[in-house]
Amino acid sequence: MSATTTLSPKAVIFDAYGTLFDVHAVIAAAEQIFPGRGDALSQLWRQKQIEYTQLRTLADAGGAAHYRPFWDITLDALRFSAKKLQLTLGRTAEKRLMDEYACLSAFPDAVPALHQLRDAASVSASRPASKSASRPASAASASAGTSGGSPPGLAILSNGNPQMLDVAVKSAGMSGLFDHVLSVDAVRAYKPAPAAYALGTQAFDAQPREIVFVSSNGWDVAGATWFGFTTFWLNRQNAPLEELGVTPHGTGAGMSDLLAFLKTLSTAGRAGRAGAAASRTPHSPGA
Ligand code: LAC
Repeated sequence: MSATTTLSPKAVIFDAYGTLFDVHAVIAAAEQIFPGRGDALSQLWRQKQIEYTQLRTLADAGGAAHYRPFWDITLDALRFSAKKLQLTLGRTAEKRLMDEYACLSAFPDAVPALHQLRDAASVSASRPASKSASRPASAASASAGTSGGSPPGLAILSNGNPQMLDVAVKSAGMSGLFDHVLSVDAVRAYKPAPAAYALGTQAFDAQPREIVFVSSNGWDVAGATWFGFTTFWLNRQNAPLEELGVTPHGTGAGMSDLLAFLKTLSTAGRAGRAGAAASRTPHSPGA
């Protein structure tokens, strides 16, 4: 385990699009509109969407003159992608695809894992405000894979603008599961700008390493690791590691791997605390 890895995370913060919400859930509708081209349209749409966020923030260099909300950028990226693929995108098709994007389905493992983490948090004395039903502490914490420490807070930190995230969270059945739904719109700078990631540390009054940041996007995990977060790459697409000289602290293909990773952190944290206590004992008299 890296020396810079947290042993007792204050929070687990999730990227939204591609990590919790399946951006390629639009393929079915795209395929109906453009038979045989749905997958190509969805892939290019996502690629251009991310490219436009990065270009706009790069051009801003600390200001926000080129910032546009993620919803607008998503529409721009759709229009460009259709043109690039020589697909005629009428207003009706455009609206249908954007409507699909507003209500993307969650990955099947997302809501159950969030409930496990939330239920563990709900029995923590430090987090009495959870909306989740209480369960016995031992059962809840063991199932969440975070036994032995104070369960972490939960948040989303996304490029999505607040209204977009609000609709997506509600339509995916995630209402009430997060302490914070953070949008980079607050700082008008897209990830991987440090100001965007800093929304997470500010929300939980934490040092970067005290937060586990989870993303399926290799570039996002690299940016988060550069920022100083403890990172978990939810490599849903079995993608190669980005060639950026950055290795996430943990990697897995699904939420169960994340829960296992969190458990290793808390186990190491307990061992570290016990070891520290034991090593202090011989020196305590007169020390
Ligand atoms: C997000 C994009 C990057 O949710 O997936 O921030």
